[in-house]
Amino acid sequence: MTKILVKKETMPAFTASAPGKIILFGEHAVVYGRPAIAVPVTQVRARAVVKANPRGRSGELRIQAAEIDLDAPLDSLSKQHPLRRTVQETLNALSVSIAPACMLRISSTIPIASGLGSGAAVSIAVVRAFSAFLGYPLPDERVSAIAYEIEKLYHGTPSGIDNTVITYARPVFFVRGQPIERIKIGAPFTIVIGDTGIPSPTAAAVGDLRQAWQASPRHYERLFDAVGHLTLAARRAIEAGRTRELGPLMDENQTLLAEMDVSSPQLEDLMRAARAAGALGAKLSGGGRGGNMIALAPEAGSAEKISLALQDAGAVHTLVTTVGE
Ligand code: MEV
Repeated sequence: MTKILVKKETMPAFTASAPGKIILFGEHAVVYGRPAIAVPVTQVRARAVVKANPRGRSGELRIQAAEIDLDAPLDSLSKQHPLRRTVQETLNALSVSIAPACMLRISSTIPIASGLGSGAAVSIAVVRAFSAFLGYPLPDERVSAIAYEIEKLYHGTPSGIDNTVITYARPVFFVRGQPIERIKIGAPFTIVIGDTGIPSPTAAAVGDLRQAWQASPRHYERLFDAVGHLTLAARRAIEAGRTRELGPLMDENQTLLAEMDVSSPQLEDLMRAARAAGALGAKLSGGGRGGNMIALAPEAGSAEKISLALQDAGAVHTLVTTVGE
């Protein structure tokens, strides 16, 4: 029998990455069947690299994720750990019972628990890199479906918007359980993102809101309906290129989010600072409580001034993204 020795350095690496996201309109209400609009944020990304380990035993997988101080064999993680589940779901999807020994390295520039979709982006990058390593890169629908299963571990009732916008990496008009609709960007517009620096797991805000909705369903259904109407108006404005109209719509969406009790004084401070610096409107984006807010710049040139105002008001990071470029 001939034994082929493969030099470690010559083993190919399988790499995949996925962007962050922001929700422009409709977070939380989207969990209850109302539409939402989300766009990718390509300035931040999660990345996964899978490389065979020719010296390892079959099935041995080591995982490294510097941002969360993780460097361990995969099977030392609990079975429900999101990274272990992501790998397992990928194996199941390909009906592979045991993978060749390998190393999975994850890195991300997406702040964790900040509303920018870091969890979904990591899952998507891992599924893509690992399925490519196994020789069968999974198609987008399967990638998104696996990421959705993992989102359930983060919070029990995800709408599916995060995994969808991040998998397809393009603006989406999303209604839970319905095929995704592309949204046409009639004219580019610039959004400034400000991070409160307060980590806020989506699960807590979604869970509290669910309890409140269970206690007063009619009240919350009315709020969700109102958000749904704003989202439809925003879609019309975006598609027609009437971008200035998005500012007041964002402010109205924020008022409703505050009524749902998912805002916070720090988010409100940043929104005030953005408006005072000329933003046409502002709102929280994602789960809320902490995490990120977004503000609409009147034109791309004014984004810098709004960013600086956000930093002066306490934002730990700011990002500028132009939708539709
Ligand atoms: C989180 O990015 C958006 C929420 O609406 C939750 C979800 O849609 O699953 C808060």
